[in-house]
Formats: sequence, C-alpha cells, structure tokens
Amino acid sequence: MQVCKQKGDLTCLQQQSLQGCCGMGHTRWATHGMASVVNAHPHVSCGGKVVVVHNGIIENYQQLKAELQQKGCTFASQTDTEVVANWLEYTLQQNQQNMHNALQQFMRVAQGSYALVVWFAGALHTLYAVKKDSPLVVGQGPQEAMLASDISALSSSIQRVYVMQNFEYACVTNQHIKIYNQKGKAIKIKYMPKPLQNTFFHKHNYTHYLEKEIYEQPQAVEKTLAYMLPKQKLTVSTLGLTRAYCKQVQHVLFLGCGSAYHVGVTLAQVVQQIAGVSAQAVCASEFRYGTFVLPKHTVVVAISQSGETADTLASVVKAKQMGCFTLGVVNAMHSSISREVHHAIYTQAGPEISVATTKAYSAQLVVGYVLALVLAREKRALHCKNLQTLLTELKKIPSYIAQVLQQRQTIQHIAKQYFQQSQMFLVGRALDYATLLEGALKIKEVSYIHAEAYPSGELKHGPISLIEPNTLLLACLTQPDIAEKTISNMVEAQSRGAQLVAITTSPLPQGIKHVSILLPPVLPLFSASVAIVPMQLLSYELSLCKGTNIDKPRNLAKSVTVE
Ligand code: G6P
Repeated sequence: MQVCKQKGDLTCLQQQSLQGCCGMGHTRWATHGMASVVNAHPHVSCGGKVVVVHNGIIENYQQLKAELQQKGCTFASQTDTEVVANWLEYTLQQNQQNMHNALQQFMRVAQGSYALVVWFAGALHTLYAVKKDSPLVVGQGPQEAMLASDISALSSSIQRVYVMQNFEYACVTNQHIKIYNQKGKAIKIKYMPKPLQNTFFHKHNYTHYLEKEIYEQPQAVEKTLAYMLPKQKLTVSTLGLTRAYCKQVQHVLFLGCGSAYHVGVTLAQVVQQIAGVSAQAVCASEFRYGTFVLPKHTVVVAISQSGETADTLASVVKAKQMGCFTLGVVNAMHSSISREVHHAIYTQAGPEISVATTKAYSAQLVVGYVLALVLAREKRALHCKNLQTLLTELKKIPSYIAQVLQQRQTIQHIAKQYFQQSQMFLVGRALDYATLLEGALKIKEVSYIHAEAYPSGELKHGPISLIEPNTLLLACLTQPDIAEKTISNMVEAQSRGAQLVAITTSPLPQGIKHVSILLPPVLPLFSASVAIVPMQLLSYELSLCKGTNIDKPRNLAKSVTVE
C-alpha cells in the first residue's frame, strides 16, 4: 500500500503518481487538528496494516485512543480518524477476528458519524466500507466498483448505484459488491441506474462555476416552477399534502443552514403575508439542540441543496420525533434528507459545483412561494383574483432575473471601486433585510470582505459607529411602503462619510448622491429572487478583483456532513 498526502488542493496530488488497481482518496475537512500533511487522510494504523479515509466525527475517539495507547498503539496525528485505523488493526490482531467481525464490533463501539473506507494489508484487492449518519454510495461499472460520499463524485463509467443505509457495511472488489447489515447478514442490493449529469461539470464559456451558475438562474427557476406547477396549476400533491391537512396547518417552520436558512428567513415572511399562517425560520444547528414549542399542526420545511447537511438532517429527525409533518426542499436526488423527510420536493437547479450557492438558493425560494400560494388557496386567505395575479407575477421571475444579469457593467464598476475595503454594510427592512443576509454571506464567503447585513432601523444602535469615510453602505429597497424609512437611514450614514449603493425597484429621490442598480418591477413579495442577483454578481466581481479562490473559498465545503 502506498500513501501520498499533500496540503493544498488536488493539483498538489496530481504531481505525484501512484500505480495500482485499487485505491482510495480523500479531501479533508479539518475537524480535529489543523490542516496539515500529518492530519491529512488516509490514516495508517501504527502497524501499517490498515488504511482508512473517513467523513464524519468519532465522538468517543479520546476514550478509544486512551484505551489503545494503554495497549501499546502509537499515534502520529491529532485526528479522530487515526483512532479508527488503530482500533481496527488492534481488533484484527485478536484471535479469530476478520474484517467482518471487526466492522460489526466497530459499529457497536464507535459513537458519532462516519462514512469510512477501509483498506487492509491482508486483502489488497478489497475495499471495506461502513456508514452511520454520513453519506456513502457504492457504484458499479463494467470493470470496476467505486465508493464515494456523493453520486456526482462517481466516474462516468459507473452504471448503477446503491445508497448505503446506516449500520450497513460493504465489501467491494472490481468483480463484486456485497453489502451486509450490522449482524453480518448479506442484504439484497437494490441498485438504481446512475443519474446522467456530466454536462454540468463543464464551465462552457464561463471562467468559474460561480459565474456560470449565477447565469443559469433564469433556467433553474423556470424549471423549478414548471415542476411545482404541473400544467401551470397549483396543486397540493406536489407538496405531499392533502387539502384537508392544508386547512389544518397552524405553523410553518423553515430549517436550514447558511444560504438555505436565509431562504427560510425570506419564506417565513412570505408565508405569513400570503397565507396568513404563522411561520418562522430557525438555523438547523440551533433547532437540533434548542427548545421549541410548536403548534400541533406544524409543517417543517427542511431546505438543503446537498440534502446532506448534518445539522439539517438531524433537525428533520427531531421534527419527526416531535410529530411534525416534514417536507424537504432538496436539490440532490437520493440524498439523505430527501430520504428522511415525509415528502421531498426537488429543486430543478441541476448540480451546483461552486461552493457558494446561487442557483439552488433561487430555486428554493420559488418552491416556498408556491407553498405559500397553496396554503393561501386552501385556507381561503386570498381572493381568487389575487391568487391569479400572484401566479402571473411568479412566472415573470425568470425573465426579471435575466434582465438584472445584464447590469454586469455597473456592478463591475462598483467592485473595482470597493474591492480593497475591509468591511461593508448592507441595510434594508423586512424582506429586504432577509435578502441582504444572503447578499452579505455571498460577499463574505467568496471575496473575504467582512460584509454585515443589518435591519436599517438597527444601524443607529451600534454599527453606525463603524462607518468611516468611504465605507460602502449598500441598501436594498424593494418594499415601497417602507423604502423611505431606509432612505433616511442611508442619509444618516452618508452624513458620517458612507458611500451609498442602492439596489432598488424605484429611483431614489434626487439629491442623494449614490449609485443605483435599478431592478425590474418585481412584486415586493417576490423581490428576494431578483434583488439577490446584483449581490451575487458583486461578490463574484469583488473576488475577481481580489484574486480569491472563487469556486472553492478557503475553509469552506460544499457539503457539510459534520455538525
Ligand atoms: C455550506 C455551503 C453553503 C450552504 C450550506 C448549507 O456551508 O458552503 O453555501 O448554504 O452549507 O448547505 P445545503 O447543502 O444544506 O444547502
């Protein structure tokens, strides 16, 4: 077994070539110990007999490590994963142990989450794998087999796929794949054909996936709307609900992490405004350990592009235990969240490669708008005519997004002027504030500029002290009834030296020095879908000016399968 590790991205590994017909690879998300060569996977047991790669966290690793140290095992890294390699090697050395027994025992002993691939010096043409709470798929091609954390990571030669379940383990060679349950009983594998998706992996004429995916948004939204509105009509069945249940719904709880949580913040307001049903958004990482009193008929909507985010998945499990009906708004088919929820709704954004999400965010929003409309209709919260008007406005969103994409030049100018700033403020009220949360996140994660969103009324309660001459204050004004309030806050900041940029549906009053990005006449309720686009482009342009790693920003991962 040859092992090669590098710090940095995959190009560092490409320079080294390893020979062989069986192997494993891993890009590490540093949970224990710094990002360093010694902490990089694969981890090799101290006797050199077992090699492992691991996604997840072994929570009782310190206890296991102490026990193994007492038995003479040594450790080179600070990781929890090295404990697995040593634990398996030690167990295999005991009388009458083979890898099957060792893995079954491992599942009883290990706490936490794991998708593990194990290579053993005694069987060099076999890979073993075991999983709990972290995703793991196995795929078969004409002459090979592969394991991966995600279907999209499997090579194009793979023809059929099996998504492994918790407490299953696999024994894989290029000739056969066998899956066993925790007791060691072989199970019948229900394969499915591998979904075709390879065209998405080309950047076509774009420099980065982020840029390509920003421009794919009209299409992503259009396809998602078509999926949500079969024959252009609202139906309860796409939501996995019945008309009777809709009438009973008392509360809608949106859960998600990062951008998916921001979608929830917007949708909670939209549902309340359109359907008159109480709604809230909670970060999944807060929900899973917090105390929440929910009304009897609560629908929980778990939003996730990857469908694998550990906190969102755990929140779904908790919500089900609390007796809620769970809906998943997921982009990746066959993902863990889509299998855990009572009903999965698939956004039609296509695979998203850039770590910073854009098109999935936009697709998730329109799913929520449709949910709000369905609830409104079933609860008779809206007059039929108003419902029809909202549906008509909803269908205009893709073309509005396309119009905003044409304003790239204005945004390039803004980026060139402000890319050297260390901080920016984004202000707005109500739905605008919700959109700005996402805008600020985009700027932070891709350009590394500290961008902070504030409800504009809060500016004077602290953050205004950070305004210095030339600080950028970006305001979002898509809610005509409260726009004037935000304009006053902008002027207050300007008097203290701020430079103003406005993303707005109506021109600002004359006399206020600012740069405007004028949006098409989107309905205020659906404004997030259109107002976010200039901020996505701005984060991209700022990052281009700064030369950051746009598609894979430092310290971030596309799919966060650890809590
Ligand atoms: C990561 C990504 C974010 C994403 C979040 C939730 O932090 O970098 O872009 O919003 O996870 O991911 P999910 O797949 O659940 O939408």
